[in-house]
Amino acid sequence: MTFQCTNHEYYLQFSDKVLALIRRIFRKSPEFRHDSFRHVARFAPLIPFMGGRPDLSKTLKRVITFPDHSNSLYFGCPIILAAGANKTALRIKDFANVGFGGITVGTATRHFREGNTHRPRIGFLEEDRAIYNSMGLNNEGVDVIAKRVDEQLVKAHKAGLCVGISVAETPGLTDPEEKIKDIIESFTIAYKAADYIEINVSCPNTGESRVDLDMTFSERIFDEIMKIRNSLGIRKAVYAKLSPDLMERHLISIMEMLVRTGVNGVVVGNTYPTAKISELPVSVTREDLTPLRADGDCGGLSGRPLYENMVWNVKYIREHYPQMSVIACGGIDHGYKIYDLIKMGVDAVQCYSVVAFRWMAAHAMRAELADALLNDGYKSLGEYDDRNPKPVKAV
Ligand SMILES: Cc1cc2nc3c(=O)[nH]c(=O)nc-3n(C[C@H](O)[C@H](O)[C@H](O)COP(=O)(O)O)c2cc1C
Repeated sequence: MTFQCTNHEYYLQFSDKVLALIRRIFRKSPEFRHDSFRHVARFAPLIPFMGGRPDLSKTLKRVITFPDHSNSLYFGCPIILAAGANKTALRIKDFANVGFGGITVGTATRHFREGNTHRPRIGFLEEDRAIYNSMGLNNEGVDVIAKRVDEQLVKAHKAGLCVGISVAETPGLTDPEEKIKDIIESFTIAYKAADYIEINVSCPNTGESRVDLDMTFSERIFDEIMKIRNSLGIRKAVYAKLSPDLMERHLISIMEMLVRTGVNGVVVGNTYPTAKISELPVSVTREDLTPLRADGDCGGLSGRPLYENMVWNVKYIREHYPQMSVIACGGIDHGYKIYDLIKMGVDAVQCYSVVAFRWMAAHAMRAELADALLNDGYKSLGEYDDRNPKPVKAV
């Protein structure tokens, strides 16, 4: 498939340079710097030059509907904070202050996990505006996370945020029956609390073989999950989060399986395994990276270099599987990119790394997206949708 895509560039403002300085100051404690984003989100409304408040205007409101009549999803804007940025599910509504219209919390596993013990677990590639990490699914367990989401959901909705929970199978289990039981339990607990569920089958950071590489097992997982979902009174959307490094043949097998089992959509995708970093447009080699795991691995890469590859995957899925909802994720750091993706038919985008490189990134991207819409004669995203109705998706 031939395609063109523009990796739109943004100009580094003074505030972005301040961020770069903060990264340099905290270069020895990248996790602290990373975690501090939630404090920024919390105090943004109090700091005058940050302009940090939820934007409750209707201009960029997005509603995702599903052909199987799963509950529609209401986003204040189509920019979602991707899984991993708020693993604790604490103070969810604060992320509306920094411009997001949705958030996926987690990834949660059945029980508490410390994650990888090696330090550091995060590294920055300044020149490439990329991050590599091997956190290893550290989290407090799905019971805690689902309870917190449940307690905060109304407030989050009022702030214009749609809230999903990402769940994954607990790494380290060997018995297939135990593995299925584990992920089903996590799914069922998370399902009660969130607006939508993301099944993370593509984490490259645990040292375990990825679930999405085992088609038979993946099919069993999604089959069981969707059977349970369909037996419940309320139908919430289920997304599968895919890896961005899949070969075309493998991508087809997974997509066919997801369609067969009735999954609503895909998040495309997770971090790119750094073992394959030479496949991406980056200025470094694998040998330049600091090992992030005791076995010498460097986990997964995220940020700007993922963009072109992600667009290829999105276009492919959009063209061949129109019944699937698509959330694009990987290297999205400009509102014009979001507009390009919306024109390709994605329902929303997720991003994460950009918040480390662009000051108040989601607010900046909102302004750029509104500008791109206006340039094409649309006053709002709703007006764009009315004038460009999507083809009706068959179930
Ligand atoms: C430090 C870090 C932790 C992450 N943790 C998770 C996670 O727990 N679950 C998940 O599905 N993705 C996780 N991701 C991947 C992101 O959700 C996203 O898919 C990826 O970073 C690509 O988007 P980006 O280029 O906008 O960062 C993590 C990414 C980073 C950088």
